[in-house]
Amino acid sequence: MRIRRFQMKDMVEMVVLYQKCFSEAPWFEVHDAKDVQRMFRKYAKTDAKPDMVVCVCEQDGRLVGGAIGFHIWYKQEVLKLISAHCEIHFSAHDSVDREPYQEIQGVFYFAELFVDPSVRGQGIGKALIEERLAFARRRGYQKGVVRTSLDQKVIQHLYKDQLGFKEVARQALLAKKLIDGVEEELAYTSVIMVGKI
Ligand SMILES: CC(C)(COP(=O)(O)OP(=O)(O)OC[C@H]1O[C@@H](n2cnc3c(N)ncnc32)[C@H](O)[C@@H]1OP(=O)(O)O)[C@@H](O)C(=O)NCCC(=O)NCCS
Repeated sequence: MRIRRFQMKDMVEMVVLYQKCFSEAPWFEVHDAKDVQRMFRKYAKTDAKPDMVVCVCEQDGRLVGGAIGFHIWYKQEVLKLISAHCEIHFSAHDSVDREPYQEIQGVFYFAELFVDPSVRGQGIGKALIEERLAFARRRGYQKGVVRTSLDQKVIQHLYKDQLGFKEVARQALLAKKLIDGVEEELAYTSVIMVGKI
């Protein structure tokens, strides 16, 4: 297993892997390839935004996992939900266009994490969390935030039991899901966890 930074040459493989991993329970999501590409391109532009990281896991010559992390500022909806718990000063006048760093220093968001179903349970998910943790600590972050589905027990285990994160909020969400070939908008609950890193 080798964890390394995402490179543009990984794009096609990563998009397919992402679509596959999030098409299953509890997500049942349908992602347009162009939207996924746009997301990877946005977060991989680390020269423009040094507080973002996209990493991949390579095994036997293929990509089997991926993960993204960045300053919580880029996840405004979660930032608003957790601001009370992170002692973050958050003003209603703040906008995403404004430079965040003087106001909410030290809070890192663990975004996407996905591992090919054929190699799960081998510690790859954990290694991709560790890689982002190391990145965040090197840059002086002190707190981490992650959001997952209430039904995603593995992520809750990895962050709560292994890293000591605590659930601080829940959120009722709606998402388009494809179940047994039928696409519909369904409600689900997400949990937001915060911890020292
Ligand atoms: C979540 C995911 C990334 C985990 O990847 P992984 O490589 O299998 O993770 P690891 O092997 O590092 O760790 C799995 C851990 O979960 C535990 N686990 C497995 N099934 C579990 C369950 N049903 N409930 C609780 N813990 C469980 C394993 O025992 C292991 O913990 P341990 O190290 O204490 O033994 C992978 O399942 C995935 O891609 N899922 C689909 C996409 C997804 O849901 N991503 C998260 C979005 S928030």
